[in-house]
Amino acid sequence: MKFFLDTANLEELKAGARWGIIDGVTTNPSLIAKEGVAMEDQIRKICAIIDGDISAEVVATDADGMLVEGRKLAKIHKNVVVKVPLTRDGIRACSIFHKEGIRVNVTLCFSAGQAILAAKAGATYVSPFVGRIDDIGGNGMDLIRDIVHIYKNYEFRTQVLAASLRTSTHVIDAAKAGAHVGTLPFKVVDALFNHPLTDKGLDQFLKDYGKVFQEVPAGR
Ligand code: G3P
Repeated sequence: MKFFLDTANLEELKAGARWGIIDGVTTNPSLIAKEGVAMEDQIRKICAIIDGDISAEVVATDADGMLVEGRKLAKIHKNVVVKVPLTRDGIRACSIFHKEGIRVNVTLCFSAGQAILAAKAGATYVSPFVGRIDDIGGNGMDLIRDIVHIYKNYEFRTQVLAASLRTSTHVIDAAKAGAHVGTLPFKVVDALFNHPLTDKGLDQFLKDYGKVFQEVPAGR
């Protein structure tokens, strides 16, 4: 499973990059707006930090506008994947980008039927939003399972990018379901490290070692 960071914050991206486990980045207009820097400038900075696929979303809602914006975004760096919403115009733009060799992440996917449309339009990624389905009383993970199953049936090459993952359990369940990618906010990746038995076990190892060799590493 590839891990993407779901953030446009440069400090979080630098911290994630240091762990050596981040394969890419997803952004959306809300995340870019939070950083207060124009889309193209911020995407350029992100590309300099993470060497992997970087999703950059169009804000136009008509296909022609999406094509203009997307072509510009794709020129920023070879790793840029143009993100379009799962609308009629988004799917039309995706089909055209696909023919032009521009990779696309189709976002705001909330049903298996929509995911089929994205695959047929040649999307590189489809982004089903797990947490937002849970928010309205549905089961977001069932959607991930359904899409993975359907794509396998037809050998669609579109990768399932599980988005709106909010907890460690979401990440584990998306991995069990066979999602190709999980996009995680920084705090969700960070939480994956935590286990009280890891802390307790490490303390005990160091105490035992220190009793015999009187060498307690600095800072403990
Ligand atoms: O990038 C899109 C998605 O991951 C957003 O997540 O938590 O705002 O539903 P959330």
